[in-house]
Amino acid sequence: MFYPWIRSFLFKLSHKDPELAHELALKVLQYVGRKPEILQNFTSFQDPALEQEVVGLTFKNPVGLAAGFDKNAVAIHGLAALGFGFLEIGTVTRYPQEGNPRPRIFRFPEDKALINRMGFNNEGADAVSKRFQKMKPPAIPIGISIGKSKITPLDKAVEDYVYSFQKLYAHAGYFAINVSSPNTPGLQTLQEKDQLDNLILALQKESKALSDQMKIPRRPLFVKISPDLSWQTLDELMEVCLNRGVDGLIATNTTLRRDGLSIQTDEMGGLSGKPLQKRALEVVRYICHHTGLPVIGVGGIFQAEDAFAMLKAGARLIQVYTGLIYEGPFMVYRINRGLRKLMEVHGFKRIQEIKE
Ligand SMILES: Cc1cc2nc3c(=O)[nH]c(=O)nc-3n(C[C@H](O)[C@H](O)[C@H](O)COP(=O)(O)O)c2cc1C
Repeated sequence: MFYPWIRSFLFKLSHKDPELAHELALKVLQYVGRKPEILQNFTSFQDPALEQEVVGLTFKNPVGLAAGFDKNAVAIHGLAALGFGFLEIGTVTRYPQEGNPRPRIFRFPEDKALINRMGFNNEGADAVSKRFQKMKPPAIPIGISIGKSKITPLDKAVEDYVYSFQKLYAHAGYFAINVSSPNTPGLQTLQEKDQLDNLILALQKESKALSDQMKIPRRPLFVKISPDLSWQTLDELMEVCLNRGVDGLIATNTTLRRDGLSIQTDEMGGLSGKPLQKRALEVVRYICHHTGLPVIGVGGIFQAEDAFAMLKAGARLIQVYTGLIYEGPFMVYRINRGLRKLMEVHGFKRIQEIKE
């Protein structure tokens, strides 16, 4: 109800550097995290029909926070209080890094879109691991997204990922292997057949060793993909994932395309939000159909209808980022409540029954 006012205040305050609004939101969420009940009473939507098990984890509802919002796991209790069914932290890299010079986030409110070229600004795997060691995480699945450090050459990428994987293994409900951010030079080439195969193989070997050593369940591995892949590269990627027994896919990351943006812009970076929705849906439908693997659908989800369309396309779970910026803190509640209604209208008794 009040969010349009808050949003317009925040957008004005941060018109030169939208990241300021993001930093402020994280601070507020950090504060809320100390007393999550304050928000939870208004944001939590519980219904057994929305609950499901995916890759051995229990999700109370299918709406998750996409990677990039809380890169360092500083506000996970506050974020959990927004009613999310799961959170994805990161992307975390082996080495701490500043990311690209600011400003590096650009808002396009007319198109409900963002362009970002953050460049994996994060405190690094050691610092994030220490933060996890000191806290009792909320009782929802916490995925951790890992990526390659900028200073690490591509031919040393595997060691870089493995380092972060080892450091964070105990704290992750699942891992997202980020090979699709457009803002780290060369990163997307890791989506190609042989390179991806090497990376997955190394992480799976490490996963087995770590779970044996720590006597904890093996952490599921998701590969997060770009919406800009050709069908052929996508086919090869799916083949590698199936052959290696990857647990799931996350589709999609931001796009370098500018379709659906009404304003001409030269800003470099990945486009997210509404203009990405159509392509994200198309990719999700394709990979679900061809792999049968659990897929987390992400891209341009703002409302329950968007989430429903993504689940109908075959996704088991969904994530949001840009929608949260434009729709505000009650978005997750609204999506869950709306999904429940849509399920009733369409005769689906349980979330996993939703199909086209
Ligand atoms: C400012 C910003 C930073 C992001 N950082 C990451 C990141 O670190 N790792 C990642 O896998 N995706 C990152 N993303 C991509 C989102 O996780 C998501 O895949 C994409 O934005 C599409 O979803 P949306 O349309 O709901 O925003 C970022 C997106 C934005 C807008």
